[in-house]
Amino acid sequence: MSEVTLVIHDLAAAVTPVGDGPLRGSEFGALRIHSPASIAITGDRIAAIGPPAEILRELSSGTDYESVDGRGKVALPGLLDCHTHPAFLGDRAAEFEMRSSGATYEEIHASGGGIRSTVAATRTGTEEDLRSAVERHLGWMLEHGTTTAEAKSGYGLDRETELKFLRAIQDAGRRSPVDVYPTFLGAHTVPPEFDSATEYVEFVIHEVLPVAAPLARFADVFLERGSFEAPEARRYLEACREYGLTLRLHADQFSERGAIPLALELGARSVDHLEATGEEGARLLAKSDVAAVLLPACGLFLDLPLPSARLLADEGAIVALATDFNPGSSYCESLPLVMNLACTRLGLSPAEALCACTANAAHVLGTVDAGRLAPDHKADVLLLDAPDWRHLAYHLGGDRFAARIKSGRVL
Ligand code: NIG
Ligand code: FE
Repeated sequence: MSEVTLVIHDLAAAVTPVGDGPLRGSEFGALRIHSPASIAITGDRIAAIGPPAEILRELSSGTDYESVDGRGKVALPGLLDCHTHPAFLGDRAAEFEMRSSGATYEEIHASGGGIRSTVAATRTGTEEDLRSAVERHLGWMLEHGTTTAEAKSGYGLDRETELKFLRAIQDAGRRSPVDVYPTFLGAHTVPPEFDSATEYVEFVIHEVLPVAAPLARFADVFLERGSFEAPEARRYLEACREYGLTLRLHADQFSERGAIPLALELGARSVDHLEATGEEGARLLAKSDVAAVLLPACGLFLDLPLPSARLLADEGAIVALATDFNPGSSYCESLPLVMNLACTRLGLSPAEALCACTANAAHVLGTVDAGRLAPDHKADVLLLDAPDWRHLAYHLGGDRFAARIKSGRVL
């Protein structure tokens, strides 16, 4: 082993999803538990992981490396949040209060609030305001163990503001230790200055997409009543695909409207939400290579039915979990909390929940070297201050990290 820069010594255990690529079917939830373990890191990569005595033997004497005491701790891969909306200004606390006395999310949206109220609040801000908002939100995520996050635009919905968003997301990503994957959510909802969804989609395709695409990796659409129907979603997604963007869909949140067949046909990377997906749709998705991204914090926050996670997993779907962090439907940045909900509400095991926030989320983001503790992978490591790795999901809202290591650096 050459030029080791950091060694995490004598861990009670180091826990990682097995293999490579997404884990589905009988492999979903398959973990490798090294116990006890040490991890040697070279620069931003894991060099070796294994029994402490073995790692110690392999370290050439005289090398100068930093040491972290892992005794009594458990190492886990840094978490990947593959669905978040961290770029917004203002808040929706007043709507939260309205919902607490009975108004529904869809009613608030239909009366011009909801996403549109965040659009109004966000359009007034400067690029610097947005950048610091994204950076602050990434910091919150990192506190809960997220070392890689997707970040959507979608509260600008005009050329200037969407561009401001994507630049702010990129800039915040460069300043934050968190690795950021930007998504152009140009079709989040129809902004107030347009009368119809079809008219707005043509505007986005011609005026915004050509300049937004170079700043993003993914394109996303909200296919739902009150936002965009399948024909408009298809038009938008096909245009985004021509610009080389990987496709994602917000769909089946309140109603099924043809999103799953469309996603399969277009070769989308994922369909996200799926609270309203019926059995037929779930089976179709499960047999395909389109991932199912489940967002149970959103169901909890809006008091909505939760997706059929067990059916999806048992039928072999690529299941990922994410926070859906946003000001309206899921003001929650904690993946460990989402893992707890997955275990208590969705019927997933802690091991499945861990795979869904690591290896499978990495697949959704198209990154092959994150989400596992294995040689040549990114040295993104969480040290859990607990005797057993399952405490990550078990301790409700109480994730306790002794250390967070990002790209080989102790934060
Ligand atoms: O994933 N469903 C659409 N978009 C977000 C919510 C956005 C908002 O309410 O501001 C979601 O739930
Ligand atoms: Fe979302």
